[in-house]
Amino acid sequence: MKSGPDDLAIFGGTPAFDRPRYVGLPNIGDRDQLFALLGEALDRRWLSNGGPLVREFERQVADLAGVRHCVATCNATAALELAIRAAGLTGEVIVPAFTFPATVHAVRWMGLTPVLCDVDPDSGLIDPASAAARIGPRTSGIIGVHLWGRPCPVTELTRVARRHGLALLFDAAQAFGSAYPGRPVGGAGLAEVFSFHATKLVNAFEGGAVVTDDGALAARVRAMHNFGIVGEDEVALTGTNAKMSEAAAAMGLVSLRGMPDFVARNRGNHRRYLAALTGVPGVELLDPDPAARHGQHYVVLRVDRERLGVHRDDLMAVLRAENVVARRYFYPGCHRMAPYRSDGWSFPHADALADALLTLPTGTAVEAAEIDRIAEVVRVVAAHAPVVAARLARPAEQAAVARRSGAARAGHQPGVPLPVAAGDEVAERGQ
Ligand SMILES: Cc1ncc(COP(=O)(O)O)c(C=O)c1O
Repeated sequence: MKSGPDDLAIFGGTPAFDRPRYVGLPNIGDRDQLFALLGEALDRRWLSNGGPLVREFERQVADLAGVRHCVATCNATAALELAIRAAGLTGEVIVPAFTFPATVHAVRWMGLTPVLCDVDPDSGLIDPASAAARIGPRTSGIIGVHLWGRPCPVTELTRVARRHGLALLFDAAQAFGSAYPGRPVGGAGLAEVFSFHATKLVNAFEGGAVVTDDGALAARVRAMHNFGIVGEDEVALTGTNAKMSEAAAAMGLVSLRGMPDFVARNRGNHRRYLAALTGVPGVELLDPDPAARHGQHYVVLRVDRERLGVHRDDLMAVLRAENVVARRYFYPGCHRMAPYRSDGWSFPHADALADALLTLPTGTAVEAAEIDRIAEVVRVVAAHAPVVAARLARPAEQAAVARRSGAARAGHQPGVPLPVAAGDEVAERGQ
């Protein structure tokens, strides 16, 4: 039980947890089912190349996404690259600045020019007006991103794309199982891309998928993800190897079966955070709607420095000292990351969100009582903000902040990778 600043671990108190609590610890489904499926694959000696488990996984994903075609891949980054290539994009492609870097990388990795745009200041999702303002003579497409499982403004983006004759793709890496009013995420634009990375709601260890209603596009993606092969001794297209393995599909199938449980746990956790943090001045959950049509797989806190009296980075440092490895998704924004910052973009909304958001642990690895302890730390910080801020401003505590958050607020260069504190596995946990 913590009641004052002296109880906070960053000031010498006992940490709330004796080992780290992470954002994005994988949901593990039924192990017996997984081992049974793996055993079957071994018995068949069919471990890759569109085996029965991959085909079944594709069927179930297509079904849940309400689309005709699904091509499972080794990850979503490769799936994005395949979708970009199969859709025939050229020249410039418009992508939101506030996203996981894979969205932007995929465009550049395909030899195209990513043109970044800003996001909505409240939702953090791509702003169709900002996207439209970036359209030029070389623009061939737009990629919308459904961040945190929340569908981006598909109708407006579709209108913009149609008006300008552009291809429209969606990075739905975080949005498998989400829905718009009346239909699941998956069928908008030319194609959408899911991730089944270990940290996602449904995981296949590593995995991804391109889903679409366009049969010709699906056929191109299917050929391209398998070296361009379309028949024995027949290579029709330049391809790559982006196939999903049978082992990954086995995990994916088990994870799909577990999905209702995972969502129920996430919803319960979300409600718990909401109850524990409602009324704390200066912090609010980004998506407080408990009835949201997505898996509530991310608990994203918006920290208003003026109202809380403590900067987001200091709150993160306090939490990390308590062994709560909160994360700054998607800091500092792609426009401030080394490969892209020389382009000189300026996105005030992306910057404001990158400065204010903090993602907290949730998922099946987090218990309700643990959420109460995490929220208690936030409440102590809020109740004693002037003292906490003043003590964190002292040199000794500043050093602790730098160690804990990887960067002191004052000296931190946006875009410089965060050093990982000793014993902190954060770099390899979550994305
Ligand atoms: C928005 C977004 N796009 C793309 C990716 C890349 O997915 P993968 O790790 O499956 O390649 C991620 C993964 O976290 C993501 O969050």
